[in-house]
Order: sequence, then structure tokens, then C-alpha cells
Amino acid sequence: MNEHNISRRTLLKALLALGISGSSITKLLHAATQNILVKKIPSSGEEIPVIGLGTSRTFDALGDEELLMHLKNVMQVFFDHKGTLVDSSPMYGGAEAVIGKLLKQISNNPPLFSATKVWTYGEQAGVKQMEESRKLWGIKRFDLMQIHNLRDWEVHYKTLKKMKAEGQIRYIGVTTSHGRFHNELEVLLETLAFDFVQLSYNIDNREVEEKLLKIALDKGVAVIVNRPYQRGDLFSLVRGKALPDWASEIDVTSWGQYFLKYIVSHPAVTCTIPATTKVKHLVDNMAAQTGRLPDAKMRNEMIRYFKSL
Ligand SMILES: NC(=O)c1ccc[n+]([C@@H]2O[C@H](COP(=O)([O-])OP(=O)(O)OC[C@H]3O[C@@H](n4cnc5c(N)ncnc54)[C@H](OP(=O)(O)O)[C@@H]3O)[C@@H](O)[C@H]2O)c1
Repeated sequence: MNEHNISRRTLLKALLALGISGSSITKLLHAATQNILVKKIPSSGEEIPVIGLGTSRTFDALGDEELLMHLKNVMQVFFDHKGTLVDSSPMYGGAEAVIGKLLKQISNNPPLFSATKVWTYGEQAGVKQMEESRKLWGIKRFDLMQIHNLRDWEVHYKTLKKMKAEGQIRYIGVTTSHGRFHNELEVLLETLAFDFVQLSYNIDNREVEEKLLKIALDKGVAVIVNRPYQRGDLFSLVRGKALPDWASEIDVTSWGQYFLKYIVSHPAVTCTIPATTKVKHLVDNMAAQTGRLPDAKMRNEMIRYFKSL
């Protein structure tokens, strides 16, 4: 695990351009200029920040101008906080078109780690869909292309291997969520050469700790964790409950940070991709990639406390 920091001046310019001022700017600057936590992609050694940005449902906003304005700010503040990995899929309605539209409006040309998915049957349909996604995002190539929910993986795996060898994508991955297809996924990770796996994992849904995370660690596969808040349901479980006194020892000041730090402190996890439509939630989420992370003992304490509520 390493830490990086960011230029204060670059950030100040971007925040002023967003119309953010006063005490908000001081808070944002403080959070964003701290060192950030990054982890290595095992297959290459490249480092990425531990908090990325999901876009399922939240970015499906074509035609809703007010929401699009909020999402532009969400994306700008994400990049201002040194976020890089944005995850999407052709399955998410207009999300990829929205990403493409907003990327054109982002200031300072920040580094982007683009991750999307192929979600269809058949080789030709897969190639066509990936090309359509690339055009929607308006980028030269994707950093990461993932087979969404293992759909037609035998076919797409061959295509992705070829695309990677030709330099059309940099990494290949496979995704699941909600605990589906875990047995099949274990076999895929054991036998094929995926750079990334994406799966659901959080403090209330720890099934992948048993096997999948161990296999990923052992085989050197980077792990992206989706649904870190169980689509927001985790917050209802802790509504009105206080954080433990010792939360300050791991620099946690909100339940969001508590949940995210639990996830990214697992040795096999590379990053997680919470989704949001709100700048204040985005800032909260990005705070989880600063400060101290829990060690194994503290992680057990986090589970014990969460279960006691
Ligand atoms: N099979 C797959 O490949 C697969 C499946 C599922 C998800 N994914 C990926 O994983 C991403 C994340 O999963 P998800 O979108 O299902 O759910 P999630 O990130 O667990 O939860 C999103 C919800 O949490 C709320 N939220 C976010 N930050 C918050 C904060 N700090 N405080 C309070 N509420 C907060 C958001 O509401 P507000 O808008 O009000 O902030 C939103 O309703 C997806 O967007 C997608 O990119 C992939």
C-alpha cells in the first residue's frame, strides 16, 4: 500500500470553477490534499487509488438536466480527490453516454482509469458492443474490459485476450454480484489469466472471504468490490447509531467511511466503487482513501461492533 498527494493549486482552481467557496472549499481542500491510499494491480504493478466510482443507476440520467449537473460535480470532485477508476456497463441504460458527456466537461484533464463491461452473447455482438461503449465514453481505448456476470465468458474471454495482446485494452476482468456464480468464478480464476475480478463484498456480506478473495490473492488477480453499501441498505442498519469511540484510531468519521475502510483493508481487495448522485456523499466516500486503515485485529473489532447494533 502506498500514498500519493495532489497539487493544492490545481484543486483550488477546479473547486472555484465549480462555484464552491467559503468553508466548503477549506474542507474539500483539506480532504483532497491529504495523501491517498493506493494499491497495486498484481499483474502489472500499476497503482490505483482504493476508491473508484460506480455508475449503475446513479448515472442513468440522460434527459434529466438537473441530475446531470449534480453528476458533473460528482465526477469533477471525484477526480479532484485523485480518484481515477470509473466503472460502468452497457447494462446501465444511459450511464455510458452520460460518462462520455461529462468527461468532456471535466477540468484539468485528470488521469482516468476506464472500466466497462461486455454484456451480450456472441463474438461479433461482443466486439460491436465494446466499440459502441468506447465511442460513448469518447476515449481511445478502455483500461479494463470485464465480462459482465460471466455472460458468454468462453467466447468473450478469447476476444479479450486477443484485444489485450493487440493493445486495444490494457486489462481483462470478469464480474459477478449479489453472490451469484461463485463456484464457477472460482474455477475461472484458478484456470484462466484474468487481471481483475469484480464481486460484491461488505461488512454484512462476507461470503467471499471464505474462498474467492483467497484465490484472488493467491493467483495475483486484482479485486474490485461492487455494492459496497449493499445499494445503500447498510445505512438503514446503522441509522441513529453512534460510531465506536475507537473509530478515530482509523480516521473514520462516518458510517460510509467505516464500511469502505472495512472493505479496502482486506489484503486481497484492490479497490471499491461506491456509486452516488451527491457531492457530499462523494466527498465522504473519498475520505475513506485517506488516513489509517484497520489491521486484522481492528477489522474483527469492526465486525463485532457492527453486529452488536
Ligand atoms: N455485476 C456487476 O458487475 C455489478 C453489480 C452491481 C454493481 N456493480 C458496480 O458497482 C457499483 C456500486 O454498486 P451499487 O451502485 O449497486 O451500490 P452501492 O455503491 O453499494 O450503493 C449506492 C447507494 O449508496 C448511496 N450512497 C453512496 N455513498 C453514500 C454515502 N457516503 N452516504 C450515504 N449514502 C451513500 C447512494 O445514494 P446517493 O445517490 O443518495 O448518494 C446509492 O443509493 C455500481 O454502480 C456498478 O458500477 C457491478
